[in-house]
Amino acid sequence: MRISSIINGEEYIDETRESLEVKNPYNQEVVAKMTLAKVEDLHRAIDVSFSTFHDTMKEMPAHKRSDILRKAADLLEERENDFAQIISREAGKPIKFSRGEVQRSVQVLRFASEQAKDINGEVIPMDAAIGGQGRLGFTKRMPLGVVAAITPFNFPLNLSLHKLAPAIAAGNTIVFKPAEKTPVSAYMLVKLFHEAGMPVGALNLVLGLGEELGDPLVEHDNVHKVTFTGSLPVGRRIREKAGFKKVTLELGSNSPNILFEDADVKEVVTDLVKGAFAFSGQVCISAQRVYVHHSLFESFLAEYKTQTEDLTIGDPLEEGTDFGPMITEEAAERAKTWIDDAVKNGAKIETGGDQKGTLLTPTIMTNVKSDMKIIAEEVFAPIVSIIPFETEEEVVKAANDSIYGLQAGVFTKDINRAFRVADQIEMGGVWINEISTYRQDNHPYGGVKQSGIGREGVKYAIEDMTEIKFYGVKLN
Ligand code: SIN
Repeated sequence: MRISSIINGEEYIDETRESLEVKNPYNQEVVAKMTLAKVEDLHRAIDVSFSTFHDTMKEMPAHKRSDILRKAADLLEERENDFAQIISREAGKPIKFSRGEVQRSVQVLRFASEQAKDINGEVIPMDAAIGGQGRLGFTKRMPLGVVAAITPFNFPLNLSLHKLAPAIAAGNTIVFKPAEKTPVSAYMLVKLFHEAGMPVGALNLVLGLGEELGDPLVEHDNVHKVTFTGSLPVGRRIREKAGFKKVTLELGSNSPNILFEDADVKEVVTDLVKGAFAFSGQVCISAQRVYVHHSLFESFLAEYKTQTEDLTIGDPLEEGTDFGPMITEEAAERAKTWIDDAVKNGAKIETGGDQKGTLLTPTIMTNVKSDMKIIAEEVFAPIVSIIPFETEEEVVKAANDSIYGLQAGVFTKDINRAFRVADQIEMGGVWINEISTYRQDNHPYGGVKQSGIGREGVKYAIEDMTEIKFYGVKLN
């Protein structure tokens, strides 16, 4: 398969241009050959997006935007298998999780379709100010213009849709730059949107290298908003380069999960095994730190180890596979060095820790310290640390001892303690009796501290992709 950028509906498949092979991380099979965009192509994509915003999208009524999103949802639902297969092949994600991702993506489109018809302003009580009587004031939410959507490899479809669908619902146009490891689902998605009735100039795909295209995209004066999911260093750079543009950044985390002594261990273990090892831990809210009350520690660890060792490791395309490769060999090697460093400093590998090529086996660590990389940084790999604690105060302090704050899980039957701890945890979101890794696509999602800026979750992303405009009338 040969793929390329799609600008104003036109593809740039040209054998003479520089290209990159997209490879299946499991077996290195070539999934596609991608023609690389140059900065001139990027500028064309921005120009087309800018003019289509002014010519078409700005005036498109909400019911039409809603229709496009609904049609896109229907088409994606029909093509679930095609998209799931390609996600598994380009990202190495086990097929059952890829199917789940497509199903979530369909919901995101449906939420956006509904939300497109419910973008509201408010009436301002003008007579609340002395001298304000006889005036009418209200607000409207206006689209911003061109949105640059820069998306990651780990949920190549759903995290792209968390940017594209709200941008369309709000009436913006888009320059879409997906991760270079997973461009095929992005290419298929843009074609699907065009088929669903999206004006071709309103959604432009640019396939190329982040280091070449990132800065020119973020710095361009005709881009009005940058929305990015990815690493902290890239997020920091975007923030610096974006100037006055609105920016949404969904960055990393080292999510804590806390099990108090009254937690139901048997029930939680299965979810936490999935929460730490689904898609090889390459999830921003992966359960990286699991704090277990000392009275449960031994039984929890034994059961956790058993269930982890029962995971079926293998080809992502096999229906029975629970666990597959990481995205690249370099990523697996980097994670392995973090395990080795921790071991040198006294940590213990309870199971896993073997790396060969892109595969790093599901790894449980104990005897960890707060300054080890596997605790202090985002591992983004199949490594979980199990840490005993004694008191509520101590565990809240440990959970908050992080530069990150995206999502956490707290397990207890004591409702007072649950909310007391949830209030004290410094995170964008806290789940009670649910793992940190659980996410629904309609709740606000985003971080505090260095986990990011802004919120996704369709309704909240729309708020961040519109500008409030005030209208005032002096009545006679
Ligand atoms: C992420 O990795 O930030 C997204 C997690 C999800 O959507 O489930």
